[in-house]
Order: sequence, then C-alpha cells, then structure tokens
Amino acid sequence: MEFKTDIQKKVTLVGAGPGREDLITIAGLRIIQQADVILYDALVNPKLLDHSKPGAQHIYVGKRSGKHSISQVEIHKLLLECALSKNRVVRLKGGDPFVFGRASEEIEYLESFGISVEVIPGVSSAISVPGGQGIPLTKRGVSTSFWVMTATTKDGSFSKDLQLAAKSSATLVILMGVRKIHQIAELVRDYRSGLTPIALIQNGTLPTENCITATLNSTEKVFKTIDVSQPGILVIGDVVADHASFYDEEIQRVLYSYL
Ligand SMILES: C[S@@+](CC[C@H](N)C(=O)[O-])C[C@H]1O[C@@H](n2cnc3c(N)ncnc32)[C@H](O)[C@@H]1O
Repeated sequence: MEFKTDIQKKVTLVGAGPGREDLITIAGLRIIQQADVILYDALVNPKLLDHSKPGAQHIYVGKRSGKHSISQVEIHKLLLECALSKNRVVRLKGGDPFVFGRASEEIEYLESFGISVEVIPGVSSAISVPGGQGIPLTKRGVSTSFWVMTATTKDGSFSKDLQLAAKSSATLVILMGVRKIHQIAELVRDYRSGLTPIALIQNGTLPTENCITATLNSTEKVFKTIDVSQPGILVIGDVVADHASFYDEEIQRVLYSYL
C-alpha cells in the first residue's frame, strides 16, 4: 500500500473529509475525476460525486445506525466485483479512511484476491469538526494531548479505553457516542470534576452544523432534546471552554437556576 496520486492500481480508498465539499484533498478530488465507479458512504458529501466524469457509476453503500443497510461483507463483494470489471474504482469514505473507517478490512479482502489498493488520506472529523468550532484539542498550559475514541466496541459494549482516558488529563474526543452521551458523562465524572466542559458537535462543517456546550454536571438538562440520529462528536476537557458560547451559556444556566 502506498500514498500516490495517480491511479495505476485497481482500487483507491479516498478520504472525503468531514462533510463540507471543499474539505477533501486535491489528490482525492483528482482521483474522483478519473473514476469509472465510486462506492460511497453515508457521511460523504454527495456533491463530491458531481466531480466525476460523465457516465461514471455511483453506488451508495452507506451504513447508518438504526437503519437497514448493506453489510460489510456485501461491501467487500461489491468492491471485488467492481475491481474485476472496471478500470478505476474509488471507495469514498467519510473523514479519513483509517479512522473508524474499516479501511484495513477492505484492503485485506481485496489484496487476498491479488488486487492492489492505494489510499488517499482524508481530513478526519475527529480533529477538523472541533477545530471548525474553535475548539483546540491541545492548548499550551491547558491540554497536552488528546484521545480519539469510539464509545461503542464491536460487540456493542462500552469501550474500556473511555475509563482509561477519563483517568488521564487528555482532551477526550468521542465518535459514535451521541446515543450514550449521558452514560459517558457519568463515567467521566467518576474521574473528573463535574464542572469539566463538554461539547456536542453535530453535522460538523455543514450548513446544518450545531454545537451545544455544557458541563458534565449539566448534560442531562442540556442534551435532553438532541436528535440522536445525526452524527456527532463529543469533546470533553477544559479546551471546550474556548468555544465562543461556553461561558455565556453557563452563566445563563446558573442565572435561570435561581429563578
Ligand atoms: C464510522 S465513523 C467514521 C469517521 C471518519 N473516518 C473520520 O475520520 O472522520 C463515523 C462517526 O464520525 C463522526 N463524524 C463524522 N463526520 C462528522 C461530522 N461532520 N460531524 C460530526 N460528527 C461526525 C460521528 O461520530 C460519526 O458517527
């Protein structure tokens, strides 16, 4: 596997970026322009497909939680079929293909049939979505590291890494955790102050983007009416206080609690 910008190989995995159309890389866009077929995920901005050449085939292979969708095994078979019948196959994935993207499984499957795969990295939502909201993941004197995690593991259980990370002083970045937001806050509160800031950013970098901030103590109240069907990222740590609305919202909440 190599990072190259021209297609000489059969399948190219391309990171589409976090959502906004122009947050794909130039290399990724060039490959899309050359593709004969593009298999794309649910969180890929469909406007990117408009850049493909006339006659290029677009196949949706999205998997969104709670909805009936194509299995990973079916995606593998479809990729193989396309690789055997088309010249230039692009597998377009949200963010970066190697961040919770199951890229390794697709590469291993294709390579087991002798098909070469190349990867064009993408801008991961894990870093760019908080950044787009003005939340730095590291900040001198505030946070020297960050952990990017998923809340849920393969068997549906809570990730043990969350506990380990909560014990550290790192900024926590949690993907696929919107449905477990209250459990997450409760767990982190066992190790950190209840006044620790937390942000939920949904549909980051898109016109429908929404960011809500709270403290670990106030998540039950603040995140009561969120739409859990929308993809979101949780950021926990003092860096969240850099968000433009954090102090304003907290002051409003304290004032209203006395009314
Ligand atoms: C299967 S993971 C894929 C992550 C992707 N490979 C990346 O690097 O961004 C999907 C999760 O990423 C997060 N996510 C992706 N795009 C997002 C966005 N625009 N806004 C908020 N969260 C996003 C959500 O937690 C979502 O459930």
